[in-house]
Amino acid sequence: MSDKQTAPVWLTGITTTGTPHIGNYVGAIRPGLASSQRTDRKNYYFLADLHALVKSEDPERINRSTLEIAAAWLALGLDTDTTVFYRQSDVPEIPALTWILSSLTAKGLMNRAHAYKAAVAANEENGQSDPDRGITMALFGYPVLMAADILMFHATHVPVGRDQKQHVEMARDIAQRFNHHYGDILTLPEAVISESTATLKGLDGRKMSKSYGNTIPMFEPQKRLRKLIMKIKTNSLEPGEPKDTEDSTLFEMYRAFATEAETAEIAQRYADGIAWGEMKQVLFEKIDAELAPAREEYERLIADPGHVEQVLLQGAEKARAVSAPLLDKVRHAVGLRALKA
Ligand code: TRP
Repeated sequence: MSDKQTAPVWLTGITTTGTPHIGNYVGAIRPGLASSQRTDRKNYYFLADLHALVKSEDPERINRSTLEIAAAWLALGLDTDTTVFYRQSDVPEIPALTWILSSLTAKGLMNRAHAYKAAVAANEENGQSDPDRGITMALFGYPVLMAADILMFHATHVPVGRDQKQHVEMARDIAQRFNHHYGDILTLPEAVISESTATLKGLDGRKMSKSYGNTIPMFEPQKRLRKLIMKIKTNSLEPGEPKDTEDSTLFEMYRAFATEAETAEIAQRYADGIAWGEMKQVLFEKIDAELAPAREEYERLIADPGHVEQVLLQGAEKARAVSAPLLDKVRHAVGLRALKA
């Protein structure tokens, strides 16, 4: 008998290397909150602090980011009774499973991972004689840790940005290989990419990302939020000149926060030549209206890390009620067993 779960399991993580920004909100947190309201599926959300080690060697930053991202989810009303909400490093079964999965993951599969390939390409472009310069084993094995995150909880659906799709496919490959060899134990996951909200552009028009330093943090004080939005790059068209909605960062951002009817109305105002300054004001008001109600609660939680810590520890307990039995099963399957006559 397989103890695989029958209800769909949705699982996603956010790497704790920075302050949560509106790209995280639109891409992961908002759909996650909507998903958590549904009773026909289980939801697992976690803070990927082991993954953060790959990208940051700044302990204060990782610690602060964990608090901020947790506080963001909670301030927006994540129901931690129905959702399993935890910190990756509080679940020791995950690194244990990572090692076991590493043992059956082809190195060649990891050679094909985009993040690793991009790092090698950057070295080559910079004329480095060693293509692996600065690349750690953790960066190379990143997809295996991510596979453990996913397979640990029998996840069936993994909502991620398009850049992470390959990692979910690798998790699926790894699970298949495991099951083929050791028996039908792991559940095969599938990536869920939402077309409309997959990636938001940042202040400079590139993908909004901590690594580009072009983000708009979710819970900036109102004044700062307005200032940042005023900085978003536009072209030099004058007020009154018709403007193209295509490739307009302001328009895309607006659409991510507005209804279809509101978006159509703004498209019309683009055609009518809305001034960039005015469009920025409209966008500011839109984003502020959605996030302002949670801003105070966010500040309250940031000032009470002890409470957030408690919430995370309770979440880890729930997570471990699932991860510990699965790890037992996996250990047994691969031959890590008690000695018996
Ligand atoms: N790698 C993901 C990112 O950078 C974060 C992440 C870690 C994740 N583990 C995961 C996402 C498991 C989904 C499922 O965005």
